[in-house]
Amino acid sequence: THTPRIFSGIQPSGGLTLGNYLGALKRFVSLQETGIETIYCVVDLHAITVWQEPETLRHQTREAAAAFMAAGVDPARSILFNQSQVSAHAEMAWLFNTVARVGWMYRMTQFKDKAGKNSENASLGLLAYPALMAADILTYHATAVPVGDDQKQHLELTRDIAAKFNHDYGSDFFPITEPLIEGVATRVMSLRDGSKKMSKSDPSDASRINLTDDADAIAQKIRKARTDAEPLPGNMDGLKDRPEARNLVNIYAALSDETPDQVLARFEGQGFGAFKPALAEVAVAALSPITTRMNQFMADPAEIDRILGDGANRADAIATPILDATKSIMGL
Ligand code: ADP
Ligand code: NA
Repeated sequence: THTPRIFSGIQPSGGLTLGNYLGALKRFVSLQETGIETIYCVVDLHAITVWQEPETLRHQTREAAAAFMAAGVDPARSILFNQSQVSAHAEMAWLFNTVARVGWMYRMTQFKDKAGKNSENASLGLLAYPALMAADILTYHATAVPVGDDQKQHLELTRDIAAKFNHDYGSDFFPITEPLIEGVATRVMSLRDGSKKMSKSDPSDASRINLTDDADAIAQKIRKARTDAEPLPGNMDGLKDRPEARNLVNIYAALSDETPDQVLARFEGQGFGAFKPALAEVAVAALSPITTRMNQFMADPAEIDRILGDGANRADAIATPILDATKSIMGL
């Protein structure tokens, strides 16, 4: 009986990538067209769970906001804001720290990946990250969250926190939020290593396409992308054991709004010498208008700050009553 409402966020922990665009931003824009209320957030409190240089973080926060708008998120139709400007997120996260169990956090594969071998030295925030993410979502009573496949486990934890809260306090206050993990690009892989996802935090710049890359950089990265020497088959069944090839075909399909089989039907029998330039062309056509608009927004940082400030006020008006009700249910 919760009104449909969509929430999602992206960390300003580096420049945004093609993975963020296809797995998140492009879908944020289509969901905005559905008429369901959409709330999108630059999650800077998540970014600082690993070290961020303050000036760089400030720049990347504005750049992420510019990327949202350049991709088509319209601050008049969606709420677009920066997480740390709405204090309900941090306060709700503390409440959820008391609901979530330590063992749930240690099981998160992202914590294991990001903390690495020396996990005793990871920030406490990196461990508690999923409780803050649950707070982001549940502070708006969001019913659905569009994310890439890498966030599936965190979304399950959000559902566990909502269910445990509802159970412990004998209420049905929080919705059990649905993950929206859809399309052929829910996990865009690194261009250098078909077993790793493309990520803004990968130390190798050649592994990813950044939304700020120009046409030459995009073409060069695609040309150098790791592939095999086989020609392309006529459908995706023929790419079962070829993860790098599968990744490039999925990227092509997502960018051109086709199915991978439609793409392969055109390229059957051809090698990457023909496919890669075609992919570069599709990628440049999709991304260069976004890059241009990002640069236009970035030329006026004060306007970005004004938009984020307005978004924060509108977000706060939804979040604070839900936070207050949560505290009241808990006896606070
Ligand atoms: P990153 O992993 O690049 O730091 P975030 O953790 O900020 O990105 O994730 C922001 C959104 O982008 C999430 O919905 C996430 O699932 C999505 N996303 C990130 N990387 C990819 C990828 N390689 N393929 C598809 N979606 C992705
Ligand atoms: Na991620």
